[in-house]
Amino acid sequence: MAMVNREPEEVVQLRARLLEWYERNQRDLPWRRSRDPYAIWVSEVMLQQTRVAVVIERYKEFLERFPTLGSLALAPEQVVLGLWSGLGYYRRARMLQKAAKFVASHAQGNLPASAAELRELPGIGAYTAAAIASIAHGERVAVVDGNVERVACRLQGWDAAGRTGGAAIRHKVEGLANELLDPGRPGDFNQALMELGATLCAPRNPQCLMCPLAALCRTRGEHKTPTRPRMLSKEVARALAVRTGRLPGLNNREVLLEQRPETQTVMPGMWELPGLRESRVPEQDLCMTLRHAIMQVNYYVRIRTVAEEDVEALTVTAGERRWVSLNLATGMALTGLTRKVLDRAHLLPKAPVEITPPLPDENDA
Ligand code: ADE
Repeated sequence: MAMVNREPEEVVQLRARLLEWYERNQRDLPWRRSRDPYAIWVSEVMLQQTRVAVVIERYKEFLERFPTLGSLALAPEQVVLGLWSGLGYYRRARMLQKAAKFVASHAQGNLPASAAELRELPGIGAYTAAAIASIAHGERVAVVDGNVERVACRLQGWDAAGRTGGAAIRHKVEGLANELLDPGRPGDFNQALMELGATLCAPRNPQCLMCPLAALCRTRGEHKTPTRPRMLSKEVARALAVRTGRLPGLNNREVLLEQRPETQTVMPGMWELPGLRESRVPEQDLCMTLRHAIMQVNYYVRIRTVAEEDVEALTVTAGERRWVSLNLATGMALTGLTRKVLDRAHLLPKAPVEITPPLPDENDA
């Protein structure tokens, strides 16, 4: 028997308050205008571990380029990674495409409708399956992400000061979320709870005075949330080598890029600026410094401009290198740091340049 956490009247009240708040306050996000399960799937995968503001831009471009599951399944992996550039956690893009290929070849391109069947697909976990099934098909299944977990723990006064995501607390939260879920509007209810966690019931400084659930909340801001793990710091130095391209024409400059070996666990196959032999860069050669965070690491990055004739002496080769036209580079699977540097140096074209595919993909032959 499922545990009962709240009296039935409280549940009714909570649903009504939350949904009314959501109707009035929900952010106007592009994926909320669609009921297409594929589009919802893409948005939910992007939203895991990436901020909404970043997702909005990438989502539009991604769906313009791959409007259907079939088009995603057929695309070269390097093109998919190129459009994922800046979102980070590139494994998500590979898994998304893997699942799209699976559905295209095993189910005539029809994404299953139920959460249970969706979970059978490679790379679709409980969260994504429940999000697609409830939002696109109205299945009565609760979505539990980090935001929902925090809201639930605060509502109930459950101790979440230890590590978040622990199996025991997750299990309790799933039970509560399914108990509270509005059976008439499961998709809206799930999104409303996530929205509350992303906006008012934030990890720090929760806005309890504005919260629609404050009267039902057992902690109201007096709740400890798990501390964030401390960020590590690392220093890196990279070469920005740009030369005039061999082809005549406007903006025919080329940049030297290196491909991360396929054997790398992090960002395999993606393109980046070559590393410098010396991490200390003389002041007069320093072209840019920046901080770039990847997971728990803050990278303090020094960028040195390197002339073509000095590349050999100043850099270490870790993968295949190419001089790439900057028009082509923008559509390639660049690492987030590389795109940031090229962008800040005003080297990438403003409007996207349509090139299909940007580079031949060996896996795709
Ligand atoms: N976070 C992830 N998916 C979301 C959604 N559909 N609505 C609100 N926040 C989210």
